[in-house]
Amino acid sequence: MPTPSEPEIQNNISLRQYNTLGFEQLAQHYTEAYCVEQIKAALELARKKNWIVFVLGGGSNIVLSRDIPGLTIRLCSSTIDWNETADGWQVTVDAGTNWHQLVMQCTDKGAFGLENLALIPGTAGAAPIQNIGAYGVELADSFDSLQALEIDSGSEVTLTRDDCKFGYRDSIFKTTAKNRYVITRVRLNLDKTLQPQTGYRALQDELHSRGVNHPTALDIVNTVCHVRQSKLPDPAAIGNAGSFFKNPVVPDRLLEHIRRTHPSAPVYQQADGNTKIAAGWLIETAGWKGHQRGAVGVHDKQALVLTHRGGSDATELLKLAEDIRQSVQQKFSITLEQEPQTI
Ligand code: EPU
Repeated sequence: MPTPSEPEIQNNISLRQYNTLGFEQLAQHYTEAYCVEQIKAALELARKKNWIVFVLGGGSNIVLSRDIPGLTIRLCSSTIDWNETADGWQVTVDAGTNWHQLVMQCTDKGAFGLENLALIPGTAGAAPIQNIGAYGVELADSFDSLQALEIDSGSEVTLTRDDCKFGYRDSIFKTTAKNRYVITRVRLNLDKTLQPQTGYRALQDELHSRGVNHPTALDIVNTVCHVRQSKLPDPAAIGNAGSFFKNPVVPDRLLEHIRRTHPSAPVYQQADGNTKIAAGWLIETAGWKGHQRGAVGVHDKQALVLTHRGGSDATELLKLAEDIRQSVQQKFSITLEQEPQTI
């Protein structure tokens, strides 16, 4: 095995183009890794230099609130391996693969299960961290396992679905294993037979208005893209990190009260017996939809999305988020939990 060459390190690099909120923060040291060997070499260098490590994927679910000390490693590897089985496809994908491109390639190939997750920004390696989800489907539904490198030791591990402890926008990578691993490859089990998941209201309505009764995978992908584009700002045009808050679980007593005063409040019964309420609705009803405060604001088509139009920083955005949280707390006695991770 050839020794990997020394990683190419750049110093004081702006991360503005590497986070979808577009915040101008610097990485003290920065490198890009195009294969697992390069990730290993970067980790080894960081250990030697005693640099702390920050791993960057698509930067679409983080709020960069400071310059990043130590070594930032941006994952750029993007190989996809296809393994055909009797009734499906086992797809193993490098962490740096663009998520939407993966969804499109799977759709082309007849490897089904990811259609509803089309157009989610970010990389395949970041997908397990928050267990990405949309329109009634989440990554955990097709996840098999992942490979990762432990940052401190450099040792390779394989983690199964059980190991990852997926929850709603949650996994061990946000909790007990936070900052412990670099995810290098993700393995998914996909079907050869399409099982359309079109129960989500917005998706159902759009398919209906298109006159599509028996959708193909591409019909679903195209419809999901259309629904997303009509509500969510394109990060390339307006800085954002998708939903800024999770949809909160509401205790029964509070739910009864809200339903009395707002009978049309959108609520979702969960399999575990809990009820969730749409955070976007709470924020809109508290009067924040479309609110603009300098360069930061609340998206005018989906109040769950906070935006940054350039020239500001995380302090302003986090202040707006805090004001929204307090206002929702005051009006509904519900505490909103932030979804993207503040770095
Ligand atoms: N709503 C409002 N006002 C708003 C926004 C939403 O009243 O400003 C209402 C809608 O009318 C609807 C309900 O709230 O009745 C739900 O809205 P939507 O379908 O847009 O979904 P969401 O619950 O707001 C979640 C995810 C999104 C995902 C969509 C579709 C979370 C935190 N967000 O949003 O995920 O795309 O469902 O599945 O669970 C993301 O994670 O970044 C993300 C965009």
